[in-house]
Amino acid sequence: MRNPFHTDTLEPDQPFCNRARELRELAGHARNGMNVVLFAPRRYGKTSLVTRVQHQIRAEGICVIYAQFMRLVSVEDMVHRLAKAIITGLHEHESLLDKGKRWLAHFPSLQVNLSIDSATGSISIGVQLVRANIPPLEALEEVLEEVGAFLEKEDFLVCIALDEFQDIVDIKEPRVEAMLREHIQRHKASYIFLGSRRRVLLDIFTNKGRPFYQSATMMELAPLPEGECVDFVVQQFRRAGKQCSQDAALAIVRKIECYPYYLQALAYRAFEQCQDNCTVEDMATAYESLLANERYGYQAIIQGISTGQLKLLRGIAKEATAQITASAFLQAHGLSLGGVQAARKHLANQDIIEQDEQGEWRLVDPVFREWLVRTF
Ligand SMILES: Nc1ncnc2c1ncn2[C@@H]1O[C@H](COP(=O)(O)OP(=O)(O)OP(=O)(O)O)[C@@H](O)[C@H]1O
Ligand SMILES: [Mg+2]
Repeated sequence: MRNPFHTDTLEPDQPFCNRARELRELAGHARNGMNVVLFAPRRYGKTSLVTRVQHQIRAEGICVIYAQFMRLVSVEDMVHRLAKAIITGLHEHESLLDKGKRWLAHFPSLQVNLSIDSATGSISIGVQLVRANIPPLEALEEVLEEVGAFLEKEDFLVCIALDEFQDIVDIKEPRVEAMLREHIQRHKASYIFLGSRRRVLLDIFTNKGRPFYQSATMMELAPLPEGECVDFVVQQFRRAGKQCSQDAALAIVRKIECYPYYLQALAYRAFEQCQDNCTVEDMATAYESLLANERYGYQAIIQGISTGQLKLLRGIAKEATAQITASAFLQAHGLSLGGVQAARKHLANQDIIEQDEQGEWRLVDPVFREWLVRTF
């Protein structure tokens, strides 16, 4: 029996829980040429959702381009990723093999190499700069100019997704942000800027002093609705030839607080754990196995933070939600006010902690929280 749960980015044909409204809205914005910022914590399904939307609108004749900016290291790196994404997206819209001559000429700064696998017939695309030693900012400007001029001439719609967009900040070249904004505002396309370090991403679009201020409509991805999650788990079990009662499915969903990645990760383990019928006890065993598996990632987070940050994290985890500047909290966790403020900034920028409507702080990831409580 094949396990029906998946923890990689979901392909458009894989089962997907809910998000019907978000799909509809994103597709609508793409058709209207509107720019959108899509934000949510890590592993909430942003990339899967955008992949799905782009797949859907491509079938309507919209040209879709997807570039991944995760861990950008330099402006040069950005130019390459962007250029490759643009050529790949255009090729999928109008094949380089029969229509390439028509549009490739509009990108004189790029040299495109095609290799065709004779066995499978699949094409791989290599993109380089014609002027290899050009300063990276100049190269970026050229590519953006050429994209703009090309879009101006074409009458098809284009949707460009820039994943983990906030990582442009990490290359520490302030002129990039202004240059991108300058060109993107003139591009005849709809952009989706998505990312998980929400504070960093949102600051780009909501800080008055920054070039992208108020240049896109904001869209937050919430946890999945509880009822939909339960139905999803029950249906996927059934589809794959096993049973999961409503109670067991609800236990799974509540344990991980509707967090999309953990929904699949825990259900995957529960499916492996049970015989033909998943029970609440199977779920509990599966949860322990999930924690054991995830601990490597959690340990890596802990190793990457300072002692003060760890103290704050532990304090918030233990109290579930916390007034972290209250003297009782500081005393209980051996923290100073100055230490808390510095630690909070770092942990919030990394999207490890967040503030709720009441102003209290909590861990973003419920399973990480439980691991912290058990470990320290
Ligand atoms: N609507 C959904 N239905 C079912 N599972 C989902 C859904 N959305 C997300 N998931 C689960 O969450 C996992 C993470 O999805 P995805 O990689 O798209 O998220 P992301 O927000 O882009 O994550 P990251 O922050 O790591 O880039 C998927 O593998 C899948 O298991
Ligand atoms: Mg992603």
